[in-house]
Amino acid sequence: MSLVPDPALFDKVVNLCKRRGFVFPSADIYGGFRSTYDYGPVGVLLLRNVKDAWWRSMVQLRHDVVGLDAAILSPPAIWEASGHLQNFADPLVDCRNCGERFRLDKLDDPDECPNCHAKGSFTEARQFNLMFKTYAGPVEGAGAEVYLRPETAQGMFVNFKNVLETSRKRPPFGIAQIGKSFRNEITPGNFVFRTREFEQMEMEYFVPPDDAPSWYEHWCNERMQWYRDLGIPADRLRLRAHDDDELSHYSVATSDVEFLFPWGWDELEGIANRTDFDLSQHAKASGESLDYFDQALGERYVPYVIEPAAGATRTAMAFVLAAYDEEEVSREGQGQGESRTVLRFHPRIAPYKVAVLPLSKKPELQVPATDVLAQLQPHFMCDYDETQAIGRRYRRQDELGTPYCVTVDFETPDDRAVTVRDRDTMAQDRVPIDGLLDHLGPKLT
Ligand code: GAP
Repeated sequence: MSLVPDPALFDKVVNLCKRRGFVFPSADIYGGFRSTYDYGPVGVLLLRNVKDAWWRSMVQLRHDVVGLDAAILSPPAIWEASGHLQNFADPLVDCRNCGERFRLDKLDDPDECPNCHAKGSFTEARQFNLMFKTYAGPVEGAGAEVYLRPETAQGMFVNFKNVLETSRKRPPFGIAQIGKSFRNEITPGNFVFRTREFEQMEMEYFVPPDDAPSWYEHWCNERMQWYRDLGIPADRLRLRAHDDDELSHYSVATSDVEFLFPWGWDELEGIANRTDFDLSQHAKASGESLDYFDQALGERYVPYVIEPAAGATRTAMAFVLAAYDEEEVSREGQGQGESRTVLRFHPRIAPYKVAVLPLSKKPELQVPATDVLAQLQPHFMCDYDETQAIGRRYRRQDELGTPYCVTVDFETPDDRAVTVRDRDTMAQDRVPIDGLLDHLGPKLT
């Protein structure tokens, strides 16, 4: 990926994602369903690895953050108090010429329709609430309305007291959650970048009000480092502070982690200082006290919240874009030139860590190959593939981003060794089967 936006890369990645089983259009056999996607056998591994890496860094490796998995269906009272019923809306315009609808704030030229190029054809903007409403129980109508959550965050605010009373955590501490959120986006698009159903990875970090600015800095730095540590090049990432007129209704400071997508810089994650807005609103609306008595300070306060809020599906897409590479190589075993596409994922993100490839399906190789597979599977997600020429199998694994291929060949039954091929260098090492775990383990953690 070059340092300027690269629209051609987008088509290549979308194509690879379908061809190799990362992402399929939802309801594909019915012609697809409106910017909705399904994660295939490889995509589901990628997405799981992204979420696991986030959970590891935000929960497992810390003593001050606990997890939660709150309900997706939620009563209007939550969204009334959070301000979403009043404020979670985008300005919607219709083109009177072609009938297409757009988000006014996302138009390059607010006077020209990007679909039919008519000028001055837009209706007056009206506020369109992005929350999906449905009904709980058999009777539709007033009193039965529920909402699909548009963010996971509120589940953590309404459980603040439960967690405080049960977890023995005290501010500064955090509650983390990964899960689906739903927004009736006016203009979904750019593949899985903006969809109506998506997954978020959010953490609400509760702090004494005076400490909020320094924790905000802390989390901006931590979150930038997370992407870098997992292989996103530093020059494809930036932190951009919101201008005052961009801030959400609950925030006094927000910075976005942005990635250089094929169409330009765009948001991966927002880190916000939400003040005591949410806890105060829920305390007022529910009648429950959501403040905290700090013994050390000798004072009672409503904690401020610093929130790093990332999109799992959007981040998975950024990992694929950052990993994508094409290069000219000599054809393995034949010396002729060919080009290969390779996803250079960090091992933690790679869907499969190892592919076991017997050179033939004959029992003399199949038996040791299944032995090798059984040795590796408890430790790593492995693929197993025994058909096609070995060169084509290597190319397939390159496109899946598998860091190591283990080839079982005709010498294996005699020397009890296999060939380990490195995805990035294509170098091959002969390794005894008994030493395989020790050889691969340190490279894959
Ligand atoms: N709780 C705060 C919050 O939800 P947000 O900036 O609206 O903040 C956080 O969302 C992250 O969720 C975004 O940075 C993005 O990665 C992801 N996200 C939001 N809307 C999305 C959509 N329609 N499709 C995919 N991901 C989305």
